[in-house]
This record gives sequence, C-alpha cells and structure tokens, in this order.
Amino acid sequence: MKPTVLAARDAFAGALTDGLRASPKRIAAKYFYDATGSELFEEITELPEYYPTRTELSILRNNIGEIAAHIGDNAQLVEFGAGSLRKVRLLLDAMDRPRGYVPVDISGEYLLEVATRLEADYPHICVNPVVADFTKPIALGPLECTAMHRIGFFPGSTIGNFTRLEAVSFLRSARRTLEGAPLLIGVDLVKDPDILHAAYNDSEGVTAAFNLNLLLRANREADADFDPAAFAHHASYNPVAQRMEMYLISRKAQRVQIGDDVIAFAEGEAIHTEDSHKYTLDSFRAVAAEAGYRQIKVWTDPARLFSVQWLQV
Ligand code: AVJ
Repeated sequence: MKPTVLAARDAFAGALTDGLRASPKRIAAKYFYDATGSELFEEITELPEYYPTRTELSILRNNIGEIAAHIGDNAQLVEFGAGSLRKVRLLLDAMDRPRGYVPVDISGEYLLEVATRLEADYPHICVNPVVADFTKPIALGPLECTAMHRIGFFPGSTIGNFTRLEAVSFLRSARRTLEGAPLLIGVDLVKDPDILHAAYNDSEGVTAAFNLNLLLRANREADADFDPAAFAHHASYNPVAQRMEMYLISRKAQRVQIGDDVIAFAEGEAIHTEDSHKYTLDSFRAVAAEAGYRQIKVWTDPARLFSVQWLQV
C-alpha cells in the first residue's frame, strides 16, 4: 500500500525550542503521539477513570443501526487522524456496502500500520491512507472503488485539543475537504469537575507518564537532557474556559540543554502541554454553525458524559 503524501512530517525539535523560549512555556499536544506516547494513550483509554473512549464506543454500539442509516450505502469513510480502529470497525461492520476507508494523519508510520491492519481484515474495502495535516483543507481527489459519497469521521473528542477558534477553523477545513459531505464527530461534554479531574489524574499514573513522555521524547529526538523526575504532572479543570489544562511543572530551579540551547526553569514554572475543551450540546452547536454545519442529530450516553454528533452542511 502506498500512502498519498501531502505534507512533510511535523518538525518536533524546532517547535520544542520555540515553545520553551516562549512565555509561558508550551509544547503543543499533538507532540504527545510518538510511538511511546501512542502506546501510553492506548493504556489511558483502558483506565477505569478515563471515561471518554469507552463511553464513545458504547454510544456508537448502542446506536449503530441509526448511525449506519445516516451514513448510507456505498460510502467512503474519511477519518481525520488515525488510530481508532475499534471505532472504524464498528462503523464498517454496520454500514451498507462500505466502499472505502481513508485515514488522514500527519504521522506516516502509524498511519500505514493502521491502514495495513484494516486492509487485511476488510479485503473488499479500498484503504487509501493520506499523509497530511488535516487542520487544513485536503484535496482527496475523485471517489474510487465504486464509492458513491464521502462521510467524515472525527472521533475521540480530538477536537477538544483545539481552541474554540481553531475548532471552527478545523470544521471549515473539513467541510472543504469533504466538499460539503456530513461529518460524524465525537465531542466530550461539560460535566462534574471531579469526574474530569479523576480522568486526567489516574491513580496508576499513566496520564502523568503520558505527559512526562514529552520530555523523554525531547531527550530522544531533540538532543535534550531533561530529568523527568525533576518535573511534576499537573492537570486541572478550568471551569470558566470549560477545559482541562495539563502542565509539566518544574520541581526546582534548573537549566536544561536542548541541542545548542539552554533553557532555564524557575522552581514551580510550568510548561503548558494540553487543553482539552469540553462542550455543552448548545456550545458545540454554535461552533458547528460558525463553520457552516448544522447539528442534525446527537447521540449520547445515559449519564451524558460524551456525545456523538451528526453534522451536515
Ligand atoms: C485525545 C484529546 C481526546 O483530552 O482526553 C488523555 C488526550 N490527554 N489524557 C483527551 C488525553 C490526557 C485526549 N484526547
């Protein structure tokens, strides 16, 4: 299988020094997902405290007939980001004559792995991975393999990592990529802060390891000499902005070498590593509307922890 390559891979080392020279210091959340980070995230999704993945799966499972009916027959599924094979399988198994699966991701290696695994199990479906930055419009080219129409799929509340403005901009790009086709999207909901706090501060420390892996990745890929034990994982809910915020906090005054640069940390100084925005059904409807999408249908779980939404132009 040969992926279509539309973007160069994200330069981590350059972004790292830029972000750590800025004030406040930051590393973008998309850099969590090297091989180790992706494995740690997989582990997070199985934690008892981390409700999003299992809740989204249950919503998909409990409403799969209706969702498949919305998708319609002879569809090509275009996934923004790659990695939720369980969710994609659920959809493909329920769809009427599924024709294609197009995972789009900036990271080529993982994308190819996912595509190869899926292709082996669905020999009758055309799998066409595309290496691209999905925050920008992508030219997918003509439909292939007798697919009649496209459906976008953006699960996992990955949209939560965007600011409100970035979320609108992503949805506008997706609309252009999909040429006005519908989008099936997973959106995490505003809820009791205690539930959120537990989900990002699990008792086994997997989320802490996931966060700290950014520093180990810097050591591996950017010639840095971070001591991960000198930083603490911090995750808290900002109820005004309605988002989880994650930081790595320096436990002491220290200097860290990154290639030819030296970055100074004061005791207690933070590196911002992630925002995970939570929405109400109303607040997400407004975001979708700004991008020209209508919230046609919302599926949720009994406790209203998470939502799966059908957006249409
Ligand atoms: C992949 C953005 C949905 O915000 O819940 C999990 C990533 N960060 N634990 C989330 C994450 C810390 C996750 N998303």
